Amino acid sequence: MSRIAFVNGRYLPYRQAAVHIEDRGYQFADGVYEVCEVREGHIVDERRHLERLSRSLGELRIPPPMTPRALGFVLRETVRLNRVREGLLYLQVTRGVARREHAFPPAGTRPALVVTARTRDRAKAETLAEAGIAVITVAENRWERVDIKTIALVPNVLARQAARETGAGEAWFVDEEGFVTEGAASNAWIVTEEGALVTRPAESGILRGITRTVVFEMAAASGLKIEERPFRVDEALQAREAFVTAATQIVMPVIKIDGTPIADGKPGPLARMLRARFHAVAEIGE
Ligand code: PDD
Repeated sequence: MSRIAFVNGRYLPYRQAAVHIEDRGYQFADGVYEVCEVREGHIVDERRHLERLSRSLGELRIPPPMTPRALGFVLRETVRLNRVREGLLYLQVTRGVARREHAFPPAGTRPALVVTARTRDRAKAETLAEAGIAVITVAENRWERVDIKTIALVPNVLARQAARETGAGEAWFVDEEGFVTEGAASNAWIVTEEGALVTRPAESGILRGITRTVVFEMAAASGLKIEERPFRVDEALQAREAFVTAATQIVMPVIKIDGTPIADGKPGPLARMLRARFHAVAEIGE
């Protein structure tokens, strides 16, 4: 079956799915995106992803490409046309196509919208989670507005590649004061000796992850304590558990940081529990 992408108003087979060379996403990374999990054919946490998209667009002053309701329809239609049961949905909005000039294009330039969906092997993801991933640390080198989910991801690309080259699954950015900000494409967490979940406040240095928000709700529902505060690499190395959260990873146990095993070097019980219960708490679409 050929894959279908939604490109500026049309559902197209992949071979014909293309954007203009003067798309500002291509020239300036002038755009934003979202990634949602698809589970049993349903989009996970669509409402929250669309709310965050609206916020990202607002911060960059890119007009919404369509109403949230119409966009929701396009997302579901893209999942359906690609017959995705288990997988990922990707959507990207850029400031549109215009002659190259850094300042905004003329008023009325239409934002460009691309939506794709792909199948992913759930069993493989579960096997990875059973084993847990290793993490490396890298110096934070991104701009201050990482709260906006922009497609300008070169530092994240380089960090993730550095992780891969050492056999690790994720890289954690560490700021000048030695505090972990977040992963190349995930939020970072540790568990204290007392069993509290620690993650950096979303006020600075990180993207407010949707998965992170759902974990907050799970913690509240199951009486787990959350300490929303920055933590250093040293503290992470002494932690009882560590894990990352993202739509692509759900809750992924971290078993090693910079080559040092965390606790007994196996996925921790809280990370496993949060992963197992995640979809009972997340909003799953119709
Ligand atoms: N990234 N921080 C960064 C830098 C991210 O890129 C992501 C997700 C997250 C977690 O956000 P959420 O829980 O809403 O997925 C945090 C997506 C999955 C990606 O770029 O593939």
